[in-house]
Amino acid sequence: MLIAQLTDTHIRRPGSLAYGVVDTAIYLAAAVDHILALDPRPDVVIVTGDLTDFDDPAEYARFREITGRLPMPLFPLPGNHDSSQGLLRAFPEIAARTAGGRVNYVVEGFALRLVMLDSTVHGRPHGTLGEEGLTFLDAALSAEPSLPALVCAHHPPFLTGIRHMDVQNLFDADALAEVLRRHPQVCAYTCGHVHRAVTTTFAGIAATIGPAPAHSVSLALDPAAPPTFHMEPPSLSLHLFADGRLVTHRSFIGTFSGPHPFFGPDGKAIGTPG
Ligand SMILES: [Fe+2]
Repeated sequence: MLIAQLTDTHIRRPGSLAYGVVDTAIYLAAAVDHILALDPRPDVVIVTGDLTDFDDPAEYARFREITGRLPMPLFPLPGNHDSSQGLLRAFPEIAARTAGGRVNYVVEGFALRLVMLDSTVHGRPHGTLGEEGLTFLDAALSAEPSLPALVCAHHPPFLTGIRHMDVQNLFDADALAEVLRRHPQVCAYTCGHVHRAVTTTFAGIAATIGPAPAHSVSLALDPAAPPTFHMEPPSLSLHLFADGRLVTHRSFIGTFSGPHPFFGPDGKAIGTPG
């Protein structure tokens, strides 16, 4: 199973630039082109929040228009720039999978189950899963203890060293860890929010933040650094689940020189001296 993870696309209305700089729609279109060119193509695309910049129906519509070219199913989650209700209104097919106004749902039918968790706190930048999300997670994992699972949300439950983002991460991380430790079939937790590729362990499993397809939060590890962003090379996460193991690749969006063969027709490495 191959999963492409988009995150933090921050789509705005036509003619409007994120932070006055970034035409995020162009970057999302490039990400869609990139996914379409992958061979093999991903089985699913997950979007771990901040689809829109201002939770505006026109922004969701634009997101749907741009990603409508993807033939595989797309499973979104809200981020702090979105809202649960805004996302559910824009994705009625996801609303049909959820209950209680929160975007908690499970994707089944693939080698890996995807447990999608709504970590948003309406109108606030930080995240919580809350009693409802934690209970949903526990029940979802209890229902299929022998099937491997990937847990997805918007907010990271760990510190990255980027202070202005760390103060708005997942506030009920300890309670999440407690649930995850009860279910050894969970192979990883993945999220967004920080607009950077980050890897660590959390509750004994792999934990990753998907990188940005547009603007990256600056890699500023000085606690006094102000919140800024850089236009680093856009990329996305490609999660490959094979032989019971989840491997996460970072795939840079764009066209690059190659593929160049290592070996010539004689079987020798090209450029071997003598
Ligand atoms: Fe974001």
